[in-house]
Amino acid sequence: MWRNRDLIEITDFTRRDIERLFKQADIFLEAKLAPLKILEGKIMAVAFFEPSTRTRLSFEAAMHRLGGSVIGFSSSRGTSMEKGESPEDTIRMLDTYSDVIVVRHPGEGVMEEFARLAEHPVINAGEGQARHPTQALVDLYTILKEKGRIEGLEYGVMGDVRHARTVKDFIKGLSIFGIREITIISPGKLAPDESFVKSMEWRGISLKHYEKIEDVINSLDVLYLVRLQVERFSSLREAEELRGSYALTLKTLESAKKDLKILHPLPRTGELPSEVDNTPYAAYFKQVFYSIPVRMAILSMILTDIERAQEGLI
Ligand code: NCD
Repeated sequence: MWRNRDLIEITDFTRRDIERLFKQADIFLEAKLAPLKILEGKIMAVAFFEPSTRTRLSFEAAMHRLGGSVIGFSSSRGTSMEKGESPEDTIRMLDTYSDVIVVRHPGEGVMEEFARLAEHPVINAGEGQARHPTQALVDLYTILKEKGRIEGLEYGVMGDVRHARTVKDFIKGLSIFGIREITIISPGKLAPDESFVKSMEWRGISLKHYEKIEDVINSLDVLYLVRLQVERFSSLREAEELRGSYALTLKTLESAKKDLKILHPLPRTGELPSEVDNTPYAAYFKQVFYSIPVRMAILSMILTDIERAQEGLI
């Protein structure tokens, strides 16, 4: 059940929870995302301590489509944090003004503390290089819509797997659906670190590492690409050395399965050339679109009894 829960860690949710969420997203999708009054009178606060375009705006669009309203900020500039206010006090304050708080923050492990301070549910909209559960839900839903199923497919994840939070939660999300093996394609320096590999093994999922996409492209059903996370490196020089160290090309795609789907959480910064946009492989703009029904489902199921009603419990 989603009602009144924080959404911080994707593995707190069962496959059944996620399937019910997707059922609700389907209902919004079938209604062509028509404006509703489900969240009339409710206020969503957005507290974005890190840059965002898609995540913040799609949460806001979802809230508006459900009849609710939005307050908040998209950078610390212009807020009391410039006067030295702590993020904890900021969250406490937003909690008194709103019914749900959507937070993005560079610090890892801060979300649980925010949730402890806030009476209302906290939704993790991106946490350092660690977690991004709502993006993973969008990614899984996109696969379901574009491939018809999540299980029984060959997955490849390409790029800066070491630093990208989207990839980590995507892999955890796949493990919830029983995927047992994922191919990672990245330069050695961008491969997942040992502790992540170990924790995934513990979840029953093994990560096979390849340096070159050409060696595996023909076996994949889904390829998830992610940009170099320049802002996560300790020095810009180190990041610069890896810039351009991986990219997909139309030539590489010549050996792909016909029904391969390419996902990317965006933004892209050179690893995914725009020529790919016009191929049948490109699913990343659909992924952007599916973020609306998924985030509508998240907000409505956390803030109302809609899930209990769907299940015939009330
Ligand atoms: C991602 C993020 O913020 O982690 N963007 C997103 O939420 N769609 C991906 C990225 O920044 O590379």
